[in-house]
Amino acid sequence: MVMRTYDGSAGDVDYAGIGAGYSSYRRPDERIARAIALALGDAREVLNVGAGTGSYENPGHTITAVEPSLAMRAQRPAQLATAIDAVAEDLPFADGQFDASMALFSVHQWSDAEAGLREMRRVTRGPVAVLTCDPTLVRDFWLYDYAPDVLDTEARRYPRLNTLAEALGGTVTVEPVPIPLDCTDGFNEAYYGRPEMLLDPAARQACSAWSFIGDQARQEFDTSLRRALGSGAWDEAFGPLRHRPTYNGSLVLLRATP
Ligand SMILES: C[S@@+](CC[C@H](N)C(=O)[O-])C[C@H]1O[C@@H](n2cnc3c(N)ncnc32)[C@H](O)[C@@H]1O
Repeated sequence: MVMRTYDGSAGDVDYAGIGAGYSSYRRPDERIARAIALALGDAREVLNVGAGTGSYENPGHTITAVEPSLAMRAQRPAQLATAIDAVAEDLPFADGQFDASMALFSVHQWSDAEAGLREMRRVTRGPVAVLTCDPTLVRDFWLYDYAPDVLDTEARRYPRLNTLAEALGGTVTVEPVPIPLDCTDGFNEAYYGRPEMLLDPAARQACSAWSFIGDQARQEFDTSLRRALGSGAWDEAFGPLRHRPTYNGSLVLLRATP
């Protein structure tokens, strides 16, 4: 059985504590949206698991959203489908009920990612799309020089891609997702060329990994990044990123068909 908090959060973080600003900082990015739309193909009935505030739900689809956290469900815009309070590991749907399904920035939080993906496969006739990070690549980001604990946490949380592929079965493709310089969806790598953004505590709070480190580590990060920006050390090491139109980091899109 999946453990739930008072808010209903079912993953490894409690969104009652950190979810409040999510929809302001994690706005869907249209270029990432296009990659997801391609993966879903011509599906009409689409399931979104770990749907959060509704990012990447396309009005051209009939969406069924599953989201365990009340704080996240409460931020869904009124025009979107009301999300069902359930968890990936135990989806309340019939076999093959959906044309396609998606789980975006979510599987790393599930208590049993493999069980959740097997459930998605069970209820989906066509493609299952999973937007996630490759744990072998998350430390290859400049942030590791300033907040190693955050990216060590991420490397531990993200399931290995072959584990996800095996749980989904069938034919699986994995594509890197290029991150645009002005990406509107504020996960850590989205700020690859805008390091000042990570000095904003609310921007950090919208990336759950920051909730795994203590106040002192957050303060030390703030001090060291501020100093490196002020002295020019960050720009000396990473300055060209400020002008790079896209960045291939750890973000990947898995697509599994039966
Ligand atoms: C980082 S948010 C991503 C939300 C949304 N998909 C997006 O792209 O903005 C992760 C979401 O996964 C949800 N989640 C965590 N554990 C879950 C589980 N076991 N089953 C379904 N959703 C879960 C969280 O409540 C949270 O809303």
